[in-house]
Amino acid sequence: MDDIQNILKNRRTIRSYADKDVDNDLLNNILEMGCRASTTGNMQVYSIVVTKDNDKKKELAPCHFNQPMITSAPVVLTFCADFNRFNKWCLAREAVPGYDNFLSFFTAAIDALLVAQTVCVAAESAGLGICYLGTTTYTADKIIEVLKLPRGVVPVTTVTLGWPADRPEQVDRLPLDAVVHKEEYNDYSTETIDLFYKEKEERADSKQFVVENNKKTLAQVFTDIRYSRKDNEHFSGVLLQVLKNQDFL
Ligand SMILES: Cc1cc2nc3c(=O)[nH]c(=O)nc-3n(C[C@H](O)[C@H](O)[C@H](O)COP(=O)(O)O)c2cc1C
Repeated sequence: MDDIQNILKNRRTIRSYADKDVDNDLLNNILEMGCRASTTGNMQVYSIVVTKDNDKKKELAPCHFNQPMITSAPVVLTFCADFNRFNKWCLAREAVPGYDNFLSFFTAAIDALLVAQTVCVAAESAGLGICYLGTTTYTADKIIEVLKLPRGVVPVTTVTLGWPADRPEQVDRLPLDAVVHKEEYNDYSTETIDLFYKEKEERADSKQFVVENNKKTLAQVFTDIRYSRKDNEHFSGVLLQVLKNQDFL
């Protein structure tokens, strides 16, 4: 318990990796622990694609906007919502699957994310460093091509995995009171928003971020640059088309 508490309290995302392989026994052990995560109806409606081959990583890199972790990490894991395997089992057993709909995609995406996070904790407990890549949902159409994902399978997140080459400072979190509601949702007032975001806004790195991006507030860095309406709407269109192509809509 102590160990897991230390791991969870002290973790941080690792984006820089030593030039050292993660051996297959260790990787399999981590993946086995990950697959112990809770899963809807014990259906395991997910798949994990392991990429270790350098050429394949180079093919994946543009799908992740060339974030350097893709080619520098020894292991890239793509976690997919997957009803393909389950559908095939049903059809082979005189059972008619009804999983070509949005709810089933969401179910499978939840399963995939639970496995992903459990794999991450297992990896971190073995001393490895991880980084999630949110770019997966932006370019799911291209990842489907690179990884040859059949209908019924949609990539939902990617994790790079390797031995840490540095130990960056832990980044901030909002105070617990900002995210935990007791018994009922307690909506935020202007005063509580000010209070909960104060520490984040006053950090030197946040202030530098605002200046570097030529913005007035930290929130504007998110709305105008990092996660803009234009990008969100564009990539929503891509993802909706992927869900249609992969038989979920
Ligand atoms: C779904 C998801 C997507 C993420 N995508 C990226 C990414 O594309 N690139 C990156 O460098 N970090 C990415 N991260 C890592 C976050 O930036 C990081 O978890 C956050 O800044 C908090 O830092 P910490 O994990 O060190 O506490 C992602 C994290 C999550 C959960």
